[in-house]
Amino acid sequence: MVETIEWTVDGVVMIDQTRLPRETVFVTCRTYLEVADAIKTMIIRGAPAIGVAAAMGVAIGVERSDDDIELICSTLAATRPTAVNLFWGIDRMRRLHLSLAGRSRAEMVAAMVTEAKLVKDEDVAICMAIGAHGAALVPDHKTVLTHCNAGALATAGYGTALGVIRAAVAAGKTIDVFADETRPFLQGARLTAWELQQDGIPTTLITDNMAGHFLKSGRIGCVVVGADRIAANGDVANKIGTYSVAVLAKENGVPFYVAAPISTLDLTLTDGSLIPIEERAAKEVTEVYGVPVAPEGIAVLNPAFDVTPNRYVMGIITEKGVAYPPFTESLRELANS
Ligand code: MRU
Repeated sequence: MVETIEWTVDGVVMIDQTRLPRETVFVTCRTYLEVADAIKTMIIRGAPAIGVAAAMGVAIGVERSDDDIELICSTLAATRPTAVNLFWGIDRMRRLHLSLAGRSRAEMVAAMVTEAKLVKDEDVAICMAIGAHGAALVPDHKTVLTHCNAGALATAGYGTALGVIRAAVAAGKTIDVFADETRPFLQGARLTAWELQQDGIPTTLITDNMAGHFLKSGRIGCVVVGADRIAANGDVANKIGTYSVAVLAKENGVPFYVAAPISTLDLTLTDGSLIPIEERAAKEVTEVYGVPVAPEGIAVLNPAFDVTPNRYVMGIITEKGVAYPPFTESLRELANS
């Protein structure tokens, strides 16, 4: 499996997800500003991967610049608004920095770098645990539908939703995957299809508007997606289009699961209406690989995420176990366990 992000002596190395699957190119970020830019331009994307990148960004900022920790943190925090893992990663590093006040610069840098590497290693372990908890929920001899990319590329490795699929396959289940292409950024077509093909997991690419047709067909055993932020009541922000899939899943009696680490929970928000939704550039909608597909000057909206109300969610698979409705109680219990 390819390394999504790595701490090296040269800097923070990331696979450039904007160029997959056409080219496998690695980008080295040598400053925290370059890390911030990589998050903003989606060289690295996916909530847990963004959290790891942010932690490494803070570490490289402390190591290689004289900028104030607050400036480093606020610059990284201004990159993308929806995935709460970004803020979680930054806060973890900021708290460590505070606790090390008075130490020598060398000691400070060593501790910050060690912590950033730990954030990455923990994320892989968390994904494996999510996979282990989720595998039992995947019906055998059926198709799993997923949306966007919640795989190794969206995490430090293994994936959340794709972690569940990988664990189900490892447990001997005979399943295949339907991957929504995920317009407009095509994470499903470019990243999920690529990742699963590399793993040899049978995968069929469908366009987003085909999901309802297949959910009705009886072939889909369950839907598993990732999340960018989950409110205290279990409302789930995830890639735009997730809500439509969830409604169509419920309409057709197909279980809809969300796989996410505890760091994706935002228990400070009572419900999903409070989750900030990123609006991205119109060009992502009007162009495909730089080729216009719409008339010039047309009005465009491009919200990158939507919120699926908790009533459509059958369970939230975390590294600590599966939360079931009512989520306000079950998520709080899991988070505090
Ligand atoms: O805009 P992206 O590609 O960062 O959005 C990614 C998603 O919506 C994923 O489904 C989510 O972050 C979960 S990744 C394990």
